[in-house]
Amino acid sequence: MQLCVIGAGYVGLVTACCFAEMGNRVVCVERDPVRLARLARGDVPIYEPGLEALLRAHLASGQLSFSASMGEGVRNAAIAFIAVGTPTGEDGSADLSHVLAVADELGEALQQPCLVVDKSTVPVGTAERVGQRINRRLASRSMSFRVRIASNPEFLKEGSAVEDFMRPDRVILGCDDGQSTEQLRRLYAPFLRNHERVLCMGVRAAEFTKYAANAFLATRISFMNEMAGLCARLDVDIEDVRRGIGSDKRIGTHFIYAGCGYGGSCFPKDVRALIRSAELEGFEPGILRAVEARNALQKTLLFQSVREHFNGLLQGRIVAVWGLAFKPGTDDLREAPSLVLLDALLAAGAKVQACDPVACNGMQGRYAEALESGQLQLTESPYSATESADALVLVTEWKQFRQPDFARIRGLMRMPVIFDGRNIYDATELAGLGFLYRGIGRPL
Ligand code: UGA
Repeated sequence: MQLCVIGAGYVGLVTACCFAEMGNRVVCVERDPVRLARLARGDVPIYEPGLEALLRAHLASGQLSFSASMGEGVRNAAIAFIAVGTPTGEDGSADLSHVLAVADELGEALQQPCLVVDKSTVPVGTAERVGQRINRRLASRSMSFRVRIASNPEFLKEGSAVEDFMRPDRVILGCDDGQSTEQLRRLYAPFLRNHERVLCMGVRAAEFTKYAANAFLATRISFMNEMAGLCARLDVDIEDVRRGIGSDKRIGTHFIYAGCGYGGSCFPKDVRALIRSAELEGFEPGILRAVEARNALQKTLLFQSVREHFNGLLQGRIVAVWGLAFKPGTDDLREAPSLVLLDALLAAGAKVQACDPVACNGMQGRYAEALESGQLQLTESPYSATESADALVLVTEWKQFRQPDFARIRGLMRMPVIFDGRNIYDATELAGLGFLYRGIGRPL
């Protein structure tokens, strides 16, 4: 099939590469000239396992190409996917300016009928608005055809995006007409040997499902974080509780890990956008508000623990921080708990020695001053980060940090105390090695 993917961000780029892998001819439209030039050279601007290999293979095979021009992108396309960003707007709602601008450009560029599919996460009713906008332009250009619209939200996770796209748990096809459903079913057939995993519904239901899925996952995390807070006060280990409840099939083992809060480009923004949608409908989203408030609080916990440990005196202390990305497997720092910790530590006068396998490049802008003055140092080795440190804080559970040589670290640190923001270490083992251990929701 001839496809156009508009936007070469996480979702767009993965979508374009994976559709090309399945034998479709894909043109990906990207506005940013720098990004475009890098991609055309086969250079992926984000860290995502497996993506660069796909990109290079399909640039070479000619199945995939990039263009700055919408006209070129949609020429002969049977389906155009909109995969541009929907960041948080000033009032918390999803900012649709990029999506609507794409709709206008499509209305100007299209020369033939086409199915326009929203892959971006957008509030209920957006696909309809997009369709109306495109068709108005087509009418004013005296074109005789109109576009159909559909919603096909994306559920990939950063760090395993290619794998998630190639082997999805489910594909949601939100279409209000049979022809669009059939067209998308055919496109996705090679990804889904088990056809029960294709879920068809109306456009609005598909749009809502995406928000509900992310809000539900965020709710599970905030719920567990709240339980962890209570556990800590009742001398109970949240890790026992997690295993205890996770074994109930109705609850399940995923997304019930207490920690230092969720981050990333999706959960925070989508929870906020859903709250705003509810407000606009005059509906009180009490649970969603609590989820967000708990998460904001959770992100401050590591700093609070460190500060308490040093009786509020952090000036001149050296703190090692392991992990900056919002989760392992990505270089994405958006809404990362590490940033809340770093801001607070630096403001309190501590010196920070931070290590992350891939996310250090993103620190330059926000922390230019601290990096310049040396108050913040980025190290390649986790061990160098702990040299002369008064405390070690684990923020992101990269594999590299899971089983370090603690005896070596004990020798490097000035004071052996570990704050474990993801509960990945064994308190007893660490105590045996002479460390003081502080987890999230674990007995002291
Ligand atoms: C999330 C969803 O998991 C995807 O299904 C969805 O497609 C995507 O958003 C999106 O809307 O595009 P992602 O943001 O890549 O994916 O990351 P997750 O793996 O969901 O992790 C989100 C955050 O939750 C991370 O900060 C992680 O550390 C935290 N988390 C996750 C916990 O604190 N506890 C857990 O048990 C699980």
